[in-house]
Amino acid sequence: MNTRDTLKINDKGHLEIGGADCTDLAKRFGTPLYVFDEAYIRAMMRVYRDTIETEYDGNGLVLYASKAFSCEAMYAIAKQEKIGVDVVSGGELYTAMQAGFPAEKIYMHGNNKLPRELTYALDCGVGTIVVDDAEEADLIDAEAEKRGIVQSVLLRINPGIEAHTHAYVQTATTDSKFGFSIQNGTAAKMTAYLLGKKHLRMKGYHCHIGSQIFEKQSFVLAVEKNFAFAAEMKKTLGFETETLNMGGGFGIWYTDEDAKIDVNGYKKYLEALIGTVKEKCAEYGLKRPYILIEPGRSIVGEAGITLYTVGAIKEIPNVRKYVAIDGGMFDNPRYALYQSKYTAILANRAAEAPCELVSVSGKCCESGDLIGVNMNLPEAKRGDIMAILSTGAYNYSMASNYNRNLIPAAVLVKDGKAEYIVKPQTYEDLVRNDAIPAYLREENRS
Ligand code: LLP
Repeated sequence: MNTRDTLKINDKGHLEIGGADCTDLAKRFGTPLYVFDEAYIRAMMRVYRDTIETEYDGNGLVLYASKAFSCEAMYAIAKQEKIGVDVVSGGELYTAMQAGFPAEKIYMHGNNKLPRELTYALDCGVGTIVVDDAEEADLIDAEAEKRGIVQSVLLRINPGIEAHTHAYVQTATTDSKFGFSIQNGTAAKMTAYLLGKKHLRMKGYHCHIGSQIFEKQSFVLAVEKNFAFAAEMKKTLGFETETLNMGGGFGIWYTDEDAKIDVNGYKKYLEALIGTVKEKCAEYGLKRPYILIEPGRSIVGEAGITLYTVGAIKEIPNVRKYVAIDGGMFDNPRYALYQSKYTAILANRAAEAPCELVSVSGKCCESGDLIGVNMNLPEAKRGDIMAILSTGAYNYSMASNYNRNLIPAAVLVKDGKAEYIVKPQTYEDLVRNDAIPAYLREENRS
């Protein structure tokens, strides 16, 4: 499948995703609505999996970084595609387990995993934990001893790379809460520390340089730094890396300011990484490690769109025109957080040429509640269905109930047919965990 075929304009001039007419979806399921194309998700999982198969003799595993979009159906698809997943919290782990995901293919991340999350991970039989703290290592070691097992671990290291992306999604600069720095020697110290633990099996390293990165060179540089470090650890500690986790971070298309990469383009990224791994193994005389990559955004980002209904339109003469939709920062906080840019289409008039620049605002009581500024659209009218593209990653997963708005439902489209993968929230859901102390109830009675 060419992932670029996921969106089309049909004969009626309506936007289609995965063969489903967006106006029909909006009618049937209501808006706001997250819509995902299953074929796209599978194509992306497969291209990474197959590239490891063909270019590296299958000696590795793709881990879907489930923070990008976590719900039971995503783990069910990953399981069918025979890939692994990375989880970063007890909640993501629970969701994976509920979906029947094989625990041995789960990698657990986090810079401050809670003791209860770690014991839960061991109870589940999570395959590998990526250690990011010495006391965390003590705790895993003690829990593994109690259970009479040896727990596989990787060490999160920080290669000290400034990737070209938003500062909040950079993770491997010197000033980072993630990992142990190669430069300042803590990565080496922690390697020795983990090797000294009886109930831990230190398998190697993990690094992740950031997200929404397009330059191959940044990824290649990280792999090079990893190998230089691995070679040093072999020399000084006699430790040979068995596993190398290269993290995620491949960029996706949001607007025409971004490159449009199709499945083959992502294959090329991975080939470049694998090429560097092979080259560096030969250069340092190291065994080829088992490799892992952790793509999140590139698997699910462009597979998803969000459908909204246009409501109030406000034109402020000589300033700007606001087109409000029935969603906002509660279902997509990325503009508010990172000033992220998106592309908007009127799904019911998709063939019409854009003619004006507008700001698309949400319905929250907050001026910064925008989906974007200067978005190019035909003249929008109340009742139009607006599609925001590339919202599959880090939208639902970062949604909130701000202003007690309901988090929208998500549907999965396959061969033109849609089914819920996340059902709509209700007002009852909003108050489910609320409690009024007895004395307050009492006082309100009198
Ligand atoms: N592995 C690790 C250890 C990570 O921290 C991340 C993302 C990934 C893999 C997946 O990276 P991806 O392939 O999705 O770029 N909320 C932000 C993105 C935060 C990314 C956090 N870590 C956003 O909306 O842009």
